[in-house]
Amino acid sequence: MVDSTLVSPICSLSEIPDGGTLLVPYGVSEEGLPREAILWRQGAEVRAYLNECKHLPIPLAFEADSIVADDKVHLICLTHGALYRFGDGRCVTGPCRGDHLDRLQIRVEGDAIFWA
Ligand code: FES
Repeated sequence: MVDSTLVSPICSLSEIPDGGTLLVPYGVSEEGLPREAILWRQGAEVRAYLNECKHLPIPLAFEADSIVADDKVHLICLTHGALYRFGDGRCVTGPCRGDHLDRLQIRVEGDAIFWA
């Protein structure tokens, strides 16, 4: 078991706007390209997904402000408009309907968010 006092948090909960997202670095792809994680907050709940569309292996968006759909309850891929829901990352409309974003495991301790 990893001692969380020795591991730096990704960020604090309060750094993610309620109903919004924060993009953070998440290693590199098999091709050696930098990847990002989307931290998406709804109240006290936070989900983390790889910022990569299931239709084509490209980011949903490059800006945290544009990745939440106008309805505020889905993420949107700006390339072809796929919509992914908060709870499980499932695509509900678009060319990859039925697929899921790659969920990343996190844990929240107080106001700090860590990779699980
Ligand atoms: S690349 Fe995301 S919907 Fe087409």
